Amino acid sequence: MRLTGSFVLRLFSGLVAALLISAPSRAEDGYQLWLRYAALPQAEAQALSRQAGRVLLPPEAGAMAQAAAEELERGIAGLSGRKPARGSAWQGPAVVLALPGQWAALQPLDADLKALREGGYLLRTMTAGGQRVTVIGAASERGLLYGSFAWLRALQTGADLARLDQRAEPKVAWRMLNHWDNLDRTVERGYAGQSIWNWWELPDMRSTRYRDYARANASLGINGVVLNNVNSKPEVLASSWLPKVAAIAEELRPYGQKVFLSVRFSSPKELGGLANSDPANPAVRAWWQAKVDEVYRLIPDFGGFLVKANSEGQPGPHDYGRSHAEGAAPMADALRPHGGLLIWRAFVYSEADATDRAKQAYQQFVPWDGQFASNVVVQVKNGAIDFQPREPFHPMFGAMPKTQLGMEFQITKEYLGFATHLAYLGPMYEEVLRADTQQPGGTGRATVARILDGSFYGDGRVTMMAGVANVGSERNWSGSHFDQANWYVFGRMAWDPELKSEAIAREWVQQTFSAPQPARESIVQLMQGSREAVVNYMTPLGLHHLMATSHHYGPGLWVSELARPEWNPVYYHRADKGGIGFDRSPSGSNAVAQYAPAVAARWARPATTEPELLLWFHHLPWDYKLPSGQALWPGLIAQYDLGVRQVGEMRARWDRLKGVIDAERFADVAARLKAQEREAQWWRDASVAYFQSVNGLPLPAGVAAPALKLEDYKARHLPYAP
Ligand code: GCU
Repeated sequence: MRLTGSFVLRLFSGLVAALLISAPSRAEDGYQLWLRYAALPQAEAQALSRQAGRVLLPPEAGAMAQAAAEELERGIAGLSGRKPARGSAWQGPAVVLALPGQWAALQPLDADLKALREGGYLLRTMTAGGQRVTVIGAASERGLLYGSFAWLRALQTGADLARLDQRAEPKVAWRMLNHWDNLDRTVERGYAGQSIWNWWELPDMRSTRYRDYARANASLGINGVVLNNVNSKPEVLASSWLPKVAAIAEELRPYGQKVFLSVRFSSPKELGGLANSDPANPAVRAWWQAKVDEVYRLIPDFGGFLVKANSEGQPGPHDYGRSHAEGAAPMADALRPHGGLLIWRAFVYSEADATDRAKQAYQQFVPWDGQFASNVVVQVKNGAIDFQPREPFHPMFGAMPKTQLGMEFQITKEYLGFATHLAYLGPMYEEVLRADTQQPGGTGRATVARILDGSFYGDGRVTMMAGVANVGSERNWSGSHFDQANWYVFGRMAWDPELKSEAIAREWVQQTFSAPQPARESIVQLMQGSREAVVNYMTPLGLHHLMATSHHYGPGLWVSELARPEWNPVYYHRADKGGIGFDRSPSGSNAVAQYAPAVAARWARPATTEPELLLWFHHLPWDYKLPSGQALWPGLIAQYDLGVRQVGEMRARWDRLKGVIDAERFADVAARLKAQEREAQWWRDASVAYFQSVNGLPLPAGVAAPALKLEDYKARHLPYAP
C-alpha cells in the first residue's frame, strides 16, 4: 500500500479525534458555552450512533454546508462517543444535509425545501430510497447550518429523534450583535476582559476564538456582527485598517455572519481631510461613495454601517442644521448599490434641550417618518432612557409606520450588576417584546414583537434586532457562566421574538449543565426570578437611573452635581419631602402622550398604572396608597427587602446544587451570588438611608435600619471599576 501524504494526515487526525473523544471529560471552564455536546446516557448514545453513523453531504457543498457537517461531526462525536463518517453515497442510516434537487431519494421534499425562507430549515426523520435517514433540509446552505445546530439542540433537549418533524424560519431578517469594542481592545461597558478582536495582530494572526465565536453565533442564527464601538473612531475606515476588518469577515463568513462597522459621522473631515462633513456637501457625498466602494472591493459581502450621531457628544447632522434623515442619506446612498444596510441609532438626547429626556428621541425622529432611505433601519433601544433594569417600551415602536425600526437590547449588564450579579435577561426582553403598543397602521395585535418582525405591517420591510454584546476574551466569554445565557436568549429571541424566556432558559440549561432533571429545573427557576430580584433591590416601582456616576455600579441616588441635569439620579427620582417619582403624566412632562391613546390613558393615572411602572410615570406623596394597601414609603422599603430576600433565596438554591454541578462552575457562581447578596443589601440600605434623609419619615415598625450612615454610602467609591 502506498501511503500518500493526505492518507497519513487523515490517519493522524482520525487518531487525534479518537483520543479526544475517549479523553476524560474536560474541565468545565465555560469555554464550550452551550455547545459542550456532553455524552448522552448510554442507551441514547448507542441509538444516536446507529442513527447518525454517517453524515451525507453532496460533493459540491460550499463553505456553510461544510461548516454544518463539521458541527454535526463534532456534536455527534461528543454526544454518542463515536465520530460519524462523512460520505455522499446513499446507504445505511445517515444524517443528510439536503438542498433542493441534490438527492434523488429526497425529491418529494423539494417543494417544501424551496418554500423555506432564507435561513429556514426542516428536520425530519424518514425513510427515503430504502434507507432510514435524518434529513436536515433547507433552501440554501445557511439553512443547513442553522438546521444542523437546531438538530443538535433537539438531541440534547429531549426531542423524539425517531419521529422528528420540525420546520422553522427566522422571523427577523437581521439578527445582530453590536460589539462596543474599541480599537485598543478595551470594551465600553464590557465585563468579560479585553475585546476578542486582537486588532494589533490582525490580519496576519487569527485567534481560533474567532471561529468558536462564529459557531456560537451561528447556533443561534445570528447573521450580522458590528465589530466596534458606537462611539467610533475615524481610523476604523482607514485603508490601512480595512484589511483587518476583511480578515474577521473571512473568519465569520463560513458561519453565515456579515461584518458591519460603526462609523463616525465626521469621518469625511477627520479621515478624508475635507472642509466639513455636511451631508449636503457634494464632496462629502463623493467621499462616502468612494470609501464604501473601497470597503466592498475588500469585503464583497460587507454588511453596512451603524451610526451614533448627535448623541452624548458624537458628531452628527445637527452640527450642520440637518435632520437625522438628511444626515443618513449620503451613507445610505453609497451603501445601497452594494446591498449594504445603514443602521441609524435613535439613542439621542440633546445637551441644549431641557425637555424630559424620555421624550427627546421621539421628538427628533417621529416627524421624519417616511423620510429615511429604503436601506436604512432606525435602531431604537427597548426603553426611552437607557437599558434600565425596567423601562416601559420605547414610544417610538409603532409610532413610525413608514420607517423600518429595529430593536436594540443590551446583553452586557451595564445597569444590572455587570457580570457579578446573576440576572437572566430573558424575562426582560420578553416583557418588552410582548407589550402591546396599541398603535394603528397594521393588522392584528401591535405588539413590539410584531412591529419588529414586520408581521404587523406585512409589507416585506427590512427587520432587525440587535443586542449589545457581552463577549470578551475571558475564558468563559461572558465574564460569568450565567451571562452566557443572556447571549443565548438574545439570539433565540432575535430569531423569533415570540419565544418564551422560560423555555429558552430550559434549553440553555439542558445544554450547559450535565445535571439531573430536578437540579436543572431548579436552575431554570433561579434564572427566571433573577431579573425581578435586581429590579427590586435596585430600582423598584418604576424608579430608574439611580446608579453611581460613570461606571454605573452601585447606588448613587444622591448625585446631583453633574454638569447636565439628566446625568443626575435626582433628576429621575425627584424625591423630596412631599413625594417621589417623575411626573410624566399630562400634569408633568406629558411623555405619556407619545404612546397610543389607550396606552397613554392607562399610564396617565396612577390608579391604572401597573405598580412596576408607578414612579416612572408619576410623582406621588409618600403616603400614596399602593394596590397592596400599603402606603408608598413602607411599600417601597418592602420592595427593597423583597429583592434582598430573593437574592438570598437564589444563593441558597444554588448552594443546594453543590456536588451536582461540576466543581469549577459551582464555585464560581457561588462566589458571585455571595457578592450579589452583599451588594443587594448595599443597594437597599443606601436607598433607604437616602430617601429617609429626604422625607424625614420614621422607618416602619419591624423594618431594619440601614447598616451604615448615609454619609458612609456616599463616601464609597470604586476606583478602576470597569
Ligand atoms: C449608555 C452607555 C454608554 C453608551 C451609550 C450608547 O449611555 O453608558 O457607554 O455609549 O449608552 O448607547 O450610545
